[in-house]
Amino acid sequence: MTISGAKQETIIFAIETSCDETAMALVACKGGITNPRFRIIKNEVLSQINIHKEFGGVVPNIAKREHITALPQMIKMFESLPEFQKAKIIAVTTGPGLTPALWTGITFARELEKKTDKKVFSANHISGHLYSFLLSNPRNMNSLFPMIALVASGGHTILFLMKDLLTLQKLGETRDDAAGECFDKGARLLNLPYPGGPELEKLAMLGCAKTVNFPRPMISQKNYDFSFAGLKTSLLYKLKNNNKANWKDISVSGSSQNTNAKQNADIAASFQQAIIDCLLSKSLRAAKTFHCRSIVVSGGVSANKLLRKEFTREAKKNKIRFIAPEMRFSVDNASMIAASSYIENLKGIRRNFQADGNLAI
Ligand code: KG4
Ligand code: ZN
Repeated sequence: MTISGAKQETIIFAIETSCDETAMALVACKGGITNPRFRIIKNEVLSQINIHKEFGGVVPNIAKREHITALPQMIKMFESLPEFQKAKIIAVTTGPGLTPALWTGITFARELEKKTDKKVFSANHISGHLYSFLLSNPRNMNSLFPMIALVASGGHTILFLMKDLLTLQKLGETRDDAAGECFDKGARLLNLPYPGGPELEKLAMLGCAKTVNFPRPMISQKNYDFSFAGLKTSLLYKLKNNNKANWKDISVSGSSQNTNAKQNADIAASFQQAIIDCLLSKSLRAAKTFHCRSIVVSGGVSANKLLRKEFTREAKKNKIRFIAPEMRFSVDNASMIAASSYIENLKGIRRNFQADGNLAI
């Protein structure tokens, strides 16, 4: 089965199980590589957050167990739709991600292929994030290129230059932790529940970002790489020093609960600002260097409201268009897997059909 890419709609049924979200989507796709258009028929996500919360992070075998239970339940919401019968393609994430979790989606997709007239295709999770902005059908597609695309998620932070949807060049990536991982580890140090990113963002809203001058690792280096591990260590030391100082305060003046809460909000705001500054600075420099007309940010971190605000402001100053996916498509979902599968089929990309936790884009 190939996708002609012309006027006819191709309906794709997509499955995503790379981490702690079981997701399925039915997406109608049409148009060629210069103007692909998407219509979401149904998009379902079942999050396992509450189950993993007590462990402070995702436990791969529990994720696997939960996907195995959720997949047959979730497909019931799709099977009765006429468009589901019309879908001849199943797109399933084969990597990167947690290998046991990936296998659940792959096995489920293969079983479905055996029972129906649908053909299964392998999809890459990072490509899913990268192309997720297309689900909003941005106007004047041609005027977006060349484009800088930043994918910032829990597992990856990669900066791409795109001359068009077909021509992708990796400019740089993180040398250690991903931006989302930095949010998550920072949140844990601040005793915030999992998943850390949105919790740290909430706390940061109550604080002042100018309070602590956290380092901006690699920000002045003339490359497009990132490094976030040192930032987390700086936060650890800052909190240790504060604790010592607060103990002294308590012995002099009694309770320091309010001071602590205010201090933590200021620290969270400063920490968040440092991450955003690094992402923004490199994206903007790349966009100027390569005379780009747009910057796209995707992946879970692109759900951060301050990040969106600052990218929008700086892009506007530089007459560059800024695009982020719809909030529901910033975090993991299956519609983005359908979109990337459509684009990659148009490009003629075929991937190995096996779970690969470290699958490259
Ligand atoms: O793309 P995603 O849903 O899954 C991966 O592919 O990793 O991204 C999840 C990551 C987590 O690290 C999470 O803390 C972060 O995205 N994240 C955020 C926000 N929402 C999710 N980080 C900062 N601010 C947010 N609002
Ligand atoms: Zn993701």
